[in-house]
Amino acid sequence: MMEDYTLPFWIYMGVLTMLVGGAMKKLLASHISAAPTLVAWLGATVLVERLWTFYVPFFLGLAVIFLTCRLYSTRNNPEPLLPAEGKAVLITGLWGLVNNAGVCVNFGDAELSLMSNYRGCMEVNFFGTLAVTKAFLPLLRQAKGRITTISSPAGDQPFPCLAAYGASKAALNLLINTLRHELEPWGVRVSIILPSSYKTGQASNPAYWEQQYKHTLQNLPPGLLEEYGEEYMNETKELFQNHSKTANEDLSPVIDAIVQALLSPQPLVRYYAGPRVSLMYFIFSYLPSSISDKFLQKLFVKKKLMPRALRKQSALGINLHHHNNNNEEKLDK
Ligand SMILES: NC(=O)c1ccc[n+]([C@@H]2O[C@H](COP(=O)([O-])OP(=O)(O)OC[C@H]3O[C@@H](n4cnc5c(N)ncnc54)[C@H](OP(=O)(O)O)[C@@H]3O)[C@@H](O)[C@H]2O)c1
Repeated sequence: MMEDYTLPFWIYMGVLTMLVGGAMKKLLASHISAAPTLVAWLGATVLVERLWTFYVPFFLGLAVIFLTCRLYSTRNNPEPLLPAEGKAVLITGLWGLVNNAGVCVNFGDAELSLMSNYRGCMEVNFFGTLAVTKAFLPLLRQAKGRITTISSPAGDQPFPCLAAYGASKAALNLLINTLRHELEPWGVRVSIILPSSYKTGQASNPAYWEQQYKHTLQNLPPGLLEEYGEEYMNETKELFQNHSKTANEDLSPVIDAIVQALLSPQPLVRYYAGPRVSLMYFIFSYLPSSISDKFLQKLFVKKKLMPRALRKQSALGINLHHHNNNNEEKLDK
């Protein structure tokens, strides 16, 4: 059976596997900003396929394999990092600023989130980062240094119940991206890190969420609370608490990304740090919003309860439907 396949067939299979494998690897591990490279990989695969149909002579086949292996191995060698010594000397400027401070004051539907939640997120995540960055910019420009900011995928995608946090991170992303353009002529490189879900500080503290939940309940207008219902809000809180229990404990993808952003000779614009973030961005960037919305809802807070007023409405609708059916049956009789 095996002898039915000739040597050129195996060479062909080898080249094809390498190219398709390379494309898949880029797709799964990738930074979506590398989409043009991915397209190039896929293009190369199609090209090899087409060329083969015209029968590539044996030696040309070997040359293609050799070149592919060479390209593949050089690309996969980890980039050497810049030496860290002397990078934080204030006399010669400041090499690196890591903007990490951030809070998610509370969570819940945008209508149920208190104004203090929107302002609290904005104050720390946006204004705090802006103030620190502005304060250190003269030193960073002097050293032609690096700015690395920990943002969140919630700043790019509409995560349910995270409007206040997400809006502050969206504002932050825009600020950082603008700085990236403006600081390029100064030689300052700017990166954003987008972590997945991690078990850290307040996010994994059920007592904190409990206290914030009570605070929201006490401060909501009674009419609004009646329309949504306490049980609806309680379900959201429990879903968040459960979600934070399943968050990642190993912070190394974020730490690695920070090191790369600070010390790589060519830092990336964006680092997707953690499992499923690249996939999430791929879905968000390339699939219709009907699919990406579903994905976010299934991945994040899988709410089962409807707001109380909507439940009442649908119950009324069902009762009315039953009533009409009964009347029609009576008339028929
Ligand atoms: N954990 C996640 O799943 C996740 C996901 C995506 C993005 N992020 C982002 O990652 C960053 C770090 O958060 P974390 O998850 O590590 O949470 P964390 O453990 O609660 O850390 C938050 C950090 O922000 C600082 N901070 C909070 N309010 C501050 C204020 N008013 N002034 C100065 N510093 C303040 C805290 O300082 P103190 O310790 O002194 O209070 C702490 O160092 C944040 O920007 C967050 O948005 C986290």
